Amino acid sequence: MSTKPLAALILAAGRGERMNSDWPKVLHQAAGEPLIEHVIENVSNVGAKRIGVVLGAHSERIRSFLNGAEVVFQQNRLGTGHAVMQAAKRFGQWKGDLLVLPADVPCVRLETLQEFVRKHRQHSAAASILTAEVDHPAGYGRILRRGSQVIGIREDLDASRSEQRISEINSGIYVFDAVTLFKRLGDIKKNRKKKEYYLTDTIEAFVRHGESVRAHKINDQNEILGVNTRRDLAVANQVLNIRELERHSKAGVTILSPAQTFVAKGARIGRDTVIHPFTWIERGVVIGRKCEIGPFAKIRAGSKIADEVVIGSFVEVVRSKVGSKTFVKHLSYLGDAELGKQVNVGAGTITANFDGRRKHKTVVHDRALLGCDTILVAPVTIGRGAKTGAGSVVCAGQSVPPGKTVVGVPAKVLRKGKRGKK
Ligand code: UD1
Ligand code: CA
Repeated sequence: MSTKPLAALILAAGRGERMNSDWPKVLHQAAGEPLIEHVIENVSNVGAKRIGVVLGAHSERIRSFLNGAEVVFQQNRLGTGHAVMQAAKRFGQWKGDLLVLPADVPCVRLETLQEFVRKHRQHSAAASILTAEVDHPAGYGRILRRGSQVIGIREDLDASRSEQRISEINSGIYVFDAVTLFKRLGDIKKNRKKKEYYLTDTIEAFVRHGESVRAHKINDQNEILGVNTRRDLAVANQVLNIRELERHSKAGVTILSPAQTFVAKGARIGRDTVIHPFTWIERGVVIGRKCEIGPFAKIRAGSKIADEVVIGSFVEVVRSKVGSKTFVKHLSYLGDAELGKQVNVGAGTITANFDGRRKHKTVVHDRALLGCDTILVAPVTIGRGAKTGAGSVVCAGQSVPPGKTVVGVPAKVLRKGKRGKK
């Protein structure tokens, strides 16, 4: 088995016109993450030593998502073959394999790419194509075979009637021996209909030169879904979401209604936690064991929920920590807050964390009890075991001492014996 080093080249210069958007296609999100990030993550995890991304004009916005990848510029978008040709300066002398893939295939699994690269090496192939049999091949390039041997790829527009019936399609994901690829790119001509250089035409050139080409066929056609339209984006989002939910289910999380639950890729949820319908959990969120979340809960990025916590209906949490056995059962907003253990947050309690210019922190210590409709105008601190009366407004800069009770607007400490007096 060859152990040549691996580099990757991601093609992202296309305009993505079918999205009908002001934003570059690859910055649209599926599973809470821009499409291109899914692909970059995958290729770095598959062990690519270098990653190049082909960008076109007006793709400045994409640069900040590249995480150190090398930018290859394609001035005129003359097709996928032309896009790869632009990388000749950087990768033309790469003595190893080059994984080439489009930036709009977010659903391909890391395990699939790993196996694909492994098989390519095992067979010492010059070119490998990731393929799948699909129900609706229209629009994709078809894999042409003579017997079992791959002999080329035919683009949809150029396919004859009988070729159109081929259901094995090109995913647009390949591994090439880099030096041979750049040689073969010199052999291809502009497609007559589209006036573009097709990367797919190199396959026939490899075969003509007697270089070994293989197809690696996978079973799950969802993996190679290319996002071209908003509808495709919705499908990709669903595919990734269901995959995440299944992962959590297997790890012991109850998700009562998967179709009504969104959990971004990579969130962590502990065993025996129950997620009720219409819950939205963002990237990087950590939730402990035996929690009850939702229905209608929104837990945003930067939140960490400890064990046995209840985040109930119509509660939004962002950039906040919630300690174990704390209850936030109804109608609350917690932003930039840090809640201790066994805090009881009454219905309608909110943190007013933004003063129009900056966000401020709220700290609530263990066993505090916040009365219904409390407003905490951050920055504030509520001491251990302290209480706020219903409707109190704790003002900015205030610190409620441990064990004390505050009431009113603005909230003042209730002195012993005063309760009930005029
Ligand atoms: C391509 C394949 C097709 C395959 C399909 C899988 C070719 C000719 N066809 O078709 O066989 O079934 O993908 O999804 O390769 N891009 C550039 N520069 C360009 C043109 C495209 O960087 O000049 C990028 C795009 O941003 C995109 C990728 O290359 O990420 C694929 O281009 P796209 O136009 O979407 O190709 P398809 O028509 O989908
Ligand atoms: Ca495409």
